[in-house]
Amino acid sequence: MTTARSDAFVFFGATGDLAYRQIFPALQALTRQGHLELPVIGVARSGWSLDQFRERARDSLAQHGTVDAATFDRLAARLRYISGDYHDGSTYEQLRRALGSASRPLHYLAIPPGMFEPVTRGLAASSCAAGARVIVEKPFGRDLASAQGLDRTLLARFAEDAIFRIDHYLGKEAVENLLYFRFANTFLEPVWHRGHVANVQFTMAEAFGVQGRGAFYDEVGTIRDVVQNHLLQMLALLTMEPPLDGGPDAIRDEKLRVLRAVRPVAPAEAVRGQFRGYREVAGVRADSQVETFAALRLHVDNARWRGVPFYIRAGKCLPVTCTEVTVELKPPSPAIFDIPGDGQSNYFRFRLSPDVAITIGARTKVPGEPMGGTATALVARCHAGSEMTPYERLLGDALRGDAALFTRGDTIEAAWRVVDPILNDAVPVTPYEPATWGPPSASHLLAAGNRWHDPAPQEVLP
Ligand code: BG6
Repeated sequence: MTTARSDAFVFFGATGDLAYRQIFPALQALTRQGHLELPVIGVARSGWSLDQFRERARDSLAQHGTVDAATFDRLAARLRYISGDYHDGSTYEQLRRALGSASRPLHYLAIPPGMFEPVTRGLAASSCAAGARVIVEKPFGRDLASAQGLDRTLLARFAEDAIFRIDHYLGKEAVENLLYFRFANTFLEPVWHRGHVANVQFTMAEAFGVQGRGAFYDEVGTIRDVVQNHLLQMLALLTMEPPLDGGPDAIRDEKLRVLRAVRPVAPAEAVRGQFRGYREVAGVRADSQVETFAALRLHVDNARWRGVPFYIRAGKCLPVTCTEVTVELKPPSPAIFDIPGDGQSNYFRFRLSPDVAITIGARTKVPGEPMGGTATALVARCHAGSEMTPYERLLGDALRGDAALFTRGDTIEAAWRVVDPILNDAVPVTPYEPATWGPPSASHLLAAGNRWHDPAPQEVLP
């Protein structure tokens, strides 16, 4: 893997939503840190002037960040804009001229996957792909077969170590901490297996709807939008075997290994829901069968986890906005004292957003004669979140050629293999009321004695 710094940043889809919400704010932050001393070239089909493009960048920062006047001026001075059709060879000739002497550009494909073929072909034919890296967005494909097709398209023009597949969850400090906390603490490993873990639950709840992205969302749905990528990546970090070392290859190898051990989900172990009112959202089909909620039961078929249920729940228009993972431990054996079987006694909880906390649930005795106790939360770590946004972190890493926080093609395919059987209409979609925890049938997925842990709006500190 070459770690030479990229010497130009090119983004396709430069007038689109992703650039507006995420890329411009990240570019301003990288400029502030002095990490963007290179040409920054936007490519899009909008037919704008450079001034209009700069105005768009300023507006993006006003809406999704803050305009830092001095830094913005430095960024604006670097911006170039190429307007052209992605199927037209002259677009790439313009790009080649704009790149000047740059020989290691980083191309960000912030465009629908259907455009990867013409864009990578145009880049290769114009010599813009030589020595280059490419970043692609999630979801990577629509299923296993299309992901394999996209990989073939990319690998025809770029080496695997020049392809950076973004999953912005991997750029979150709190997600990195899952891995760190697991392997930096001696007390965890002895209990981190089927002998002591009763079940593991991942909840990614959003109290809002599809936020003006109706047309996009109706092509995708919750399983493709967040389960195949963000949630399975988190699952891999929590369940993988200790890597041979802390380097990116060793970690990515173990993530792949554990994802390959996850059994493809049977339709009977999945529930898909759709919030009432979704079909009235602009861009959504009137008879849409696309899910805005998914609940799954997963099995990791290896020596460490066999028999432990893993539950995933994700959705829009749920009661709170919060992402957290609860690792519930089995009760002590033998049971000397009475302990309620509500799953609130012994657990590890990783709360990733909106606040960040790692909590260990333990029982302590209530003063008095009876040997009775109460649930106590030991908060191991708690902070308000990182200053650095995931996109700032990931774009900075890609510019340096550091692929540790990007997903390899084999791992993405392993994740598609897990959800492939429940895509499209394999599981009927059930309506649910907004501000509820999805269809009540989600509770049918739980094994006897298990319960969903509904996250509180804020972690309660002791
Ligand atoms: C994106 C999904 O990948 O992640 C969105 O497309 C979702 O639907 C978002 O809202 C959540 O990300 P975060 O960082 O706000 O938790």
